[in-house]
Amino acid sequence: MRVAVIGASGQLGSDIVFVLGDDAIPLTHQDVDVTDASSLDVIRDLKPDVIVNTAAYHKVDECELNPLKTFNVNSVGALNVAKIANEVDAINIYISTDFVFDGKKGRPYNEDDQPNPVNVYGLSKYIGEIVTRNYSRKYYIIRLASLFGVKGARGKGGNFIDKITEKARRGEPIRVVDDMIMSPTYTKDVARMLKKLLELRPEYGVYHMVNEGYCSWYELAKTVFEIIGWDADIKPIKTRDLNLVARRPLFSALENRRLHKLGFRMRPWREALKEYLVERGLVK
Ligand SMILES: NC(=O)c1ccc[n+]([C@@H]2O[C@H](COP(=O)([O-])OP(=O)(O)OC[C@H]3O[C@@H](n4cnc5c(N)ncnc54)[C@H](OP(=O)(O)O)[C@@H]3O)[C@@H](O)[C@H]2O)c1
Repeated sequence: MRVAVIGASGQLGSDIVFVLGDDAIPLTHQDVDVTDASSLDVIRDLKPDVIVNTAAYHKVDECELNPLKTFNVNSVGALNVAKIANEVDAINIYISTDFVFDGKKGRPYNEDDQPNPVNVYGLSKYIGEIVTRNYSRKYYIIRLASLFGVKGARGKGGNFIDKITEKARRGEPIRVVDDMIMSPTYTKDVARMLKKLLELRPEYGVYHMVNEGYCSWYELAKTVFEIIGWDADIKPIKTRDLNLVARRPLFSALENRRLHKLGFRMRPWREALKEYLVERGLVK
């Protein structure tokens, strides 16, 4: 099985490349720009069995101010990848997000729930999903959330955990929202589960793939400092106090219902977090 990984130097892409080992064909942004259909010609020559598109423009507030760029990368990019995947008869895997939901359900979203994005980023990813579904002969849409991985999100200047531990190191106060609930997810666990999915090749469609459980960003931050044993100056705040440019779904936890039906379980986020903190050298 040969798997072309678009966005290979990103937080998720690099872990997928690591976990797949010799099966992976890493394609960095320099190798392939999803917004430029001609740059995808390289895939025609490589003829992979699977294409995983991890590329995204995902700084949520910037996306709100730059809708053209956002739709170009996240939606038009998905269209370009879907077309080339059909041409080479590859399975097309589009990486999507919990931000396709509006957050009003109040319980974890499963794959049958209706997306209703409340910001440009979520909208652009939902269009990417529709394009993937309606253009690809063989596809998986994988919805993830609140990622942490050793590479840190390149497009966001590091992941949340790296940012708060850096702040604590500098002795700065840390203020984190306690009214935004999500499913923290370790990119290495996603990469491992993707590998299993590709080995099993279940029915095509949408799959949620997050570490089990959910919490607020404040609870996540507190748990990080509890595990690493640092006495950080951390206090909860409310989302409205941040005056963010883009609206956020306040409850975007996901349930991996379709994975459960296949007998697969992701481990709880606390366990995954411990392994991540060991991997980052923050605990032994
Ligand atoms: N991070 C999260 O919390 C989160 C949550 C839910 C879903 N997701 C989704 O998960 C995926 C991976 O996220 P991540 O955290 O791994 O992000 P990341 O570290 O920013 O990785 C994205 C990769 O895509 C590349 N890229 C950006 N624009 C591109 C383009 N036009 N053509 C080709 N490559 C391009 C980037 O390269 P350069 O950096 O060199 O530009 C980077 O290597 C994204 O689809 C995102 O929407 C992320």
